[in-house]
Amino acid sequence: MHDIFGEEVARWQHLERVFKNTLESFGYTEIRTPALEKIEVFSQTVGDDTDIVEKQMYEVKSAAEAERLVLRPEGTAAFMRAVLEHQLHRLPGAQRFYYCLPMFRYERPQKGRLRQFHQFGVELIGDASPEADAEIIFVFETILKTLGIRDYVLEINSVGCSDCRPVYRDALKDYFRPHLAELCEQCQGRFERAPMRILDCKNPKCAELVQNAPLITDHLNAPCREHHDGLRQRLTQLGVAFTDNPRIVRGLDYYSRTAFEFTSELLGAQSALGGGGRYDGLAQRFGHDPIPAVGWALGMERFLIALEAKSPLTPTVRKPIVFFAPLDAPAFEMLFELSMRLQRKGILTAMSYERDKKLKWLMKQADRTGAVYTLLLGEDERKSGKAVLKKMAAGTQEEIEISNLEEIIAGRARSEA
Ligand code: HAM
Repeated sequence: MHDIFGEEVARWQHLERVFKNTLESFGYTEIRTPALEKIEVFSQTVGDDTDIVEKQMYEVKSAAEAERLVLRPEGTAAFMRAVLEHQLHRLPGAQRFYYCLPMFRYERPQKGRLRQFHQFGVELIGDASPEADAEIIFVFETILKTLGIRDYVLEINSVGCSDCRPVYRDALKDYFRPHLAELCEQCQGRFERAPMRILDCKNPKCAELVQNAPLITDHLNAPCREHHDGLRQRLTQLGVAFTDNPRIVRGLDYYSRTAFEFTSELLGAQSALGGGGRYDGLAQRFGHDPIPAVGWALGMERFLIALEAKSPLTPTVRKPIVFFAPLDAPAFEMLFELSMRLQRKGILTAMSYERDKKLKWLMKQADRTGAVYTLLLGEDERKSGKAVLKKMAAGTQEEIEISNLEEIIAGRARSEA
């Protein structure tokens, strides 16, 4: 878990601005759900045999309540809980949402893998067409292009639906059965319950066996095949380059039909920039009728790694236009008030509230803040009616009317902007 501050926070804000501007220009609106959810929101939806449900959830205990709450490990099930609670699916036509929220998973931390990380995600409900899938993938690609990230690959697959999957599962079991003893212990457990999870296993022996396993794409029924072909055609029409990867199953169980991942070599071992897919059946896991839905989430920390690897961002932390250096008590009174008034107008200024400091100390503070100007005001200046304004970078100085300080500084702020 990381503290984020200083220049790093400026990078986050830059990313957040690009994400939000892009999504809002495609008609998405923000949704914010709580960090805590009832455990069932995930345990009944994400899948028993997934890492998230097996070992990655943080459970939160309260002294007074027996209810089991967890810190949200992913956004989609929480989103669907909110959709059903507020009947958002009843609104006519497609509804488009995005979120930018912290997620929590108990994992072994490494580069690009944290226990508290941040996802930027989109979810589109109320549209079952391949165009909706193509739209959200196009949006993801738009973000990559806007940020100037070129080193990425988009892999797509169809994981079928509840009709074609049982047939595929049987085909997989027939294939793995003679090799059962060669599979890792975990996959031996998965063989009966969730044979598709074996496709995801990182164990070298399992991965080797997976090489020749039957492909889901050879077991799709006609509507699923048609949907998948439709998506492929739309992506081609939109000029989005993709690779077919029939081994993508994703780490969550709620997907049907489309599943996809954007990966990048810039990231090292944790190569997934983001991923998602269609989850028309997720509402049923909450005991509701199906609701067509499709979405993705990207890892903010991974995007930052990719951006840094490409060319380090030099974010701009806002610098004050002027550092006020009062040389006596009456000057302090005057400049304190002026500083507050200017900042209320959106003009950043800086001032130290320490009293009776010498000029040398004040100039050092001014340097530290990175202010463009330093304003010196004391008894001599008041007598002459003119304060001293130093331009820090050039080392030059000029005299400005005390009666007109606010306007002059506001004018300098405008011309420096
Ligand atoms: P996910 O593949 O589990 O999907 O996570 C999406 C992205 O979050 C990953 O591709 C990765 O960039 C980032 N990520 C995941 N775990 C970590 C971690 N421990 N540390 C840093 N980054 C991480 C989902 O969560 C789905 N809810 C996506 C979705 C939305 N599907 C439909 N709608």
